[in-house]
Amino acid sequence: MAYGAKIGPSILSSDLSCLGSECVRMMECGADYLHLDVMDGHFVPNITFGHPMVECLRKSVGQDPFFDMHMMVSRPEQWVKPMAAAGANQYTFHLEATTNPGNLIKEIRESGMKVGLAIKPGTTVEELAPWANQIDMALVMTVEPGFGGQKFMEDMMPKVSWLRSQFPSLDIEVDGGVGPDSIHKCAEAGANMIVSGSAVIGSDDPRSVIALLRTVVAEAIQKRSLDR
Ligand code: DX5
Ligand code: ZN
Repeated sequence: MAYGAKIGPSILSSDLSCLGSECVRMMECGADYLHLDVMDGHFVPNITFGHPMVECLRKSVGQDPFFDMHMMVSRPEQWVKPMAAAGANQYTFHLEATTNPGNLIKEIRESGMKVGLAIKPGTTVEELAPWANQIDMALVMTVEPGFGGQKFMEDMMPKVSWLRSQFPSLDIEVDGGVGPDSIHKCAEAGANMIVSGSAVIGSDDPRSVIALLRTVVAEAIQKRSLDR
C-alpha cells in the first residue's frame, strides 16, 4: 500500500498574527503536514499571503514540517520558483487556473517540489484524470475555495471514490468542512490526505481531533486493502 493516512491542518482559521507559533503548535499536536492556503483575491474572493510569508514560516518552524501550498491563484505559473525558494514542499495548483497543466507540472518538478492538482466543486474528475499519472496528489475540494468554516459538500464524494478506484496508490486530499462529523464519508470514499481547518484549530483539544481523523482514515485504508 503506497499511501497512508495524513492529517494537514489548514492554518487559515488560526490567529494569523501568530502564524509561526500556530504552525509549531499544530505539529506538536500530531499534524503530519501543514496545508497553507494562498489566495490572490482574483481566483477566489479572498486574499491571504504569498511566498514572503512562507519564507518566514520556514525559518520559524525549521526544515521538517511538510508545506503543502494550496495555490488559489490565477496564473499559478508565476509563483513556482518563488515558492520553491521560500521552502515549499508541494505546489498544489488549480486545474481551472491554467491552460497548460502539463507544462506547469514539469516546472514544479524541475523546481524540486511535489505536484498537487486541485479541482473546484464544479470541475469534473474526468478533467483531472488525464494528469493523474503525472502528479503526486489530487485535491478534491469539498467547498467552494475561498473561506474556512464552510459546510462540507458530501456530493463531492463520488469524485473521490472514482479517483480511488482508477488510481489505487494516488494521494487523494479533501479540503473544506472536514472534521469529526464528515471524516467517515471522506475515509470511506478513499481520501487519505485530510485538510481540516476550523475543526482542528477551533478545538480545545486539537491533538485528539487530529488523532481521531487519522484513526478513521487509517482504518478505512486497512479495510480497503483487506477487501482487495
Ligand atoms: C478553503 C481552504 C481550506 C480551508 C479549510 O478555501 O482551501 O483549506 O481553510 O477550512 P475548513 O476546514 O474550516 O473548511
Ligand atoms: Zn485549502
